[in-house]
Amino acid sequence: MSKQATAKACSNIAFIKYWGNRDPELRLPFNDSLSMNLSQATTTTTVTFRDDIQADSITVDGAPLDGAGWQRVSTHLDHVRRMAGISLRADVVSANTFPMGTGIASSASGFAALSLAAASAAELKMSEREMSCLARLGSGSAARSIPEGFVEWLAGARPEECYARSIAKPEHWDLRDIVAVVSLEHKTVGSGGGHDAAATSSYFEARLAELGTRLPLMKEALLDRDLARLGPALEIEALSLHAVALTSRPPILYWEPATIALMRQTETWRRQGLPVYYTLDAGPNVHLIVEGEHAEDLERELSALDYVEMSLHNRPGPAAGLVAD
Ligand code: DP6
Repeated sequence: MSKQATAKACSNIAFIKYWGNRDPELRLPFNDSLSMNLSQATTTTTVTFRDDIQADSITVDGAPLDGAGWQRVSTHLDHVRRMAGISLRADVVSANTFPMGTGIASSASGFAALSLAAASAAELKMSEREMSCLARLGSGSAARSIPEGFVEWLAGARPEECYARSIAKPEHWDLRDIVAVVSLEHKTVGSGGGHDAAATSSYFEARLAELGTRLPLMKEALLDRDLARLGPALEIEALSLHAVALTSRPPILYWEPATIALMRQTETWRRQGLPVYYTLDAGPNVHLIVEGEHAEDLERELSALDYVEMSLHNRPGPAAGLVAD
C-alpha cells in the first residue's frame, strides 16, 4: 500500500461559535456553529506510516512535539489505525503558514490536514462527511475545516450526525477576515479549558437559547450576502461567548487592553462610513470582517495603529485537499 500522503487544510473563523461540549470525549458540541475557511491560514501535513519506527514521530514548524501535544496527535492517529486495521507508527511533518498564538485556530487546520493525510496514507475510503467526523475527534473546529467556503457544523443527535457541511462555495461572497494581531504571546488558557468550564456559567443556557434565533438569522444573512444584517449579530455572538467565559468557574478573561481599543475603533470606523465588524475567538486578537471593496481602506487604517503588531488578510478558503508529494 502507499503509506504516505500530504494534505492541506485552511483554518476557519466561526461566525457562530462552538463553546462547550455535551460529550468532551467525542467532541459533541452543545450547539450548531457557522464558519468561513481562511485562505491564508493553512496547515500542510505529510503522514508516512513506517515499519521501521517504534513510536510516532511528530514535527510541527520544524520542532519535535512531545508531552501533551504529542499525545493528542498520537491518539488521533490511533483512530485512523483502528479504522484501517493497521498498527504501523507514523512520521508526521506539519507546517503552518501563520504564527501560532495569532488567535487563529491552528488546531482546526492542523487536525483537518492530519485526518485527511493519515486516512489517505492508510488507504481509507471516506466521504467528506466521515472525514469531518474524524477531524472533529481531534479538535471540534477542525470538523469545519474539511468542507469548502462557508460551513455549518451540525451538533447532531448521534456522533455520526455531528459533522460539518458547506452551505456556500468560496466564490459565493467576497468577504474578508483581516486578523489584527495585538499579541503574539501564547494564551494561558486554551480553548480546551474554556469548553470544560462553559456550562458552569449561569449565562450558558441563555446563550444557547439565543442561538435558536441568531443562528437562522446569520445563516440567512450569509446566504443573502447581507453584511448589514450579519455584522451586528456577529459581534453580539462573540460578546456572548466572552460573557460565558468571563462568568465561568474559573472565570477566563481573554482580552488585552488593545483588544478593547480595537473593538471601540471598529465602532468609530463604522460611524465614519467604513462597514466593518469584529469577531473574537478564545484569545486577544481581533478578526475584522469586511467586504472586498473596503478591505484596502481597512488595511490602511490598521497600519496606522501602533498597538496592532501584524495583520493577516484572508478570503473564503477551499476545502481540505490532498497535495501531490
Ligand atoms: C472559540 O476547536 O479549538 O475558536 O475541540 O478543544 O480543539 P477543541 O477546541 P477548539 O475550539 C474553538 C473555540 C472557538 C470557537 C469556534 O471556533 O467555534
